[in-house]
Amino acid sequence: MLSLMKRPILVWDLPTRLFHWLLAAGVLGAFAIGNLVDDDQPAFAWHMLLGATAAFLVLLRIVWGLVGSRYARFGSFVFGPRAILDYFRGLLSKDTKSFVGHNPGSSVAIFAMLFLTVGAAVTGALMGSGGEALEELHEVFANALIIVAGAHVAGVLLHTLRHRENLTGSMIAGTKVGDEADAIRSSHPLVGLGFVALTAIWAVGLASGYDAQAGTVRLPLLGTTLAVGEGAEGEKRGGGEHERHGEHDEDDDD
Ligand code: HEM
Ligand code: HEM
Repeated sequence: MLSLMKRPILVWDLPTRLFHWLLAAGVLGAFAIGNLVDDDQPAFAWHMLLGATAAFLVLLRIVWGLVGSRYARFGSFVFGPRAILDYFRGLLSKDTKSFVGHNPGSSVAIFAMLFLTVGAAVTGALMGSGGEALEELHEVFANALIIVAGAHVAGVLLHTLRHRENLTGSMIAGTKVGDEADAIRSSHPLVGLGFVALTAIWAVGLASGYDAQAGTVRLPLLGTTLAVGEGAEGEKRGGGEHERHGEHDEDDDD
C-alpha cells in the first residue's frame, strides 16, 4: 500500500539505544576476557567489572521497560505464542507483517538476553562463596547468553537482507521508516544522560570498592561486601600457611 506519510520517524529513545550498545559491549567484553584471561591475572578484574555493569544496565532497562516511551515499554513487545509462531512462519514466506517496535521474534531473544545477563552476573558474583556448582552454572549462563546473542545478530542480519530495512542503523539513529502517527515524541535525552551517569557511578564505585588483595568488592549504592573470584576455597591465597606458622595450642588462657 502506498502511503504519502512514510518517512523516518523516531522509534527508539536515547536510553534504549545507549542501553543496547553499552550492554552489547559489556557482555561481549566480559565474555572475551572470561575466556582469554586467566582468573588469577589482575586483568581479570575487568571481567567482573564489565559483567556486573552489564547486569546493572539491565536493571535500569527494566525500570525503563515499565515507565519508558512507547516502544521501550515491555507492554509493547510481550507477544503471545501465536504471534511468535506466525512471525517465524512468515520469515520463511515473503509476507511478513512489519512492526514499528520490536517484532515477536526478537522480543523472545530480548527477554532471554536480559534474564541470562542477570543470571551470569549473579552466579559470577556468588561464585566466591559458592564453589563448583556455581562455577558450572556461571558457564551455562554465559554460554547460553552468547548463543542467544549470536542468534539475535543473525536474526537482525536476516531481517536486514530480506526486508531491506537497516535495523542496526535504527538502533543507532533511533529512526525507522513509518507513519508519522506511530512516532514517539521525544528521545528523552535527559533520561539518557541520567542513565549514563548512574552507570558510570556504579562502574566507578565498583572499581574503587575492589580489593584485589583480599579478593573482595564493596558494592556501590548497596554497601554490601562480596568475596569475588574462585577464592573461597583458599587454594589461591596459600591455604592458610601463615596462620599455621606461629600457631599455639588451643588452650588460650583468656
Ligand atoms: C554487535 C551486533 C549487534 C547488532 C547489530 C544488534 C542489533 C540490534 C537491533 C537492530 C535491535 C532492535 C531489534 C528489533 O528491531 O527488535 C537490537 C535489540 C536488542 N539487542 Fe542487539 N545487536 C547486537 C548485539 C547485541 C548483543 C551482544 C546483545 C546482548 C547481549 C544485544 C542485546 C539486545 C537487546 C537486549 C535488545 C533489545 C533492546 C531494548 O529494547 O532495550 N544485542 N539489537
Ligand atoms: C555478562 C556477564 C558475564 C559473562 C558473560 C561471563 C562469562 C564468563 C566466562 C565465559 C567465563 C570463563 C569460564 C571458563 O573458565 O570456561 C567466566 C569465568 C568467570 N567469571 Fe564470569 N561472566 C560474567 C559476569 C561475571 C561477574 C559479574 C563475575 C564476578 C563478580 C564473574 C566472575 C567470574 C569468575 C570468578 C570466573 C572464573 C571461573 C573459572 O575460570 O572457572 N563473572 N565468566
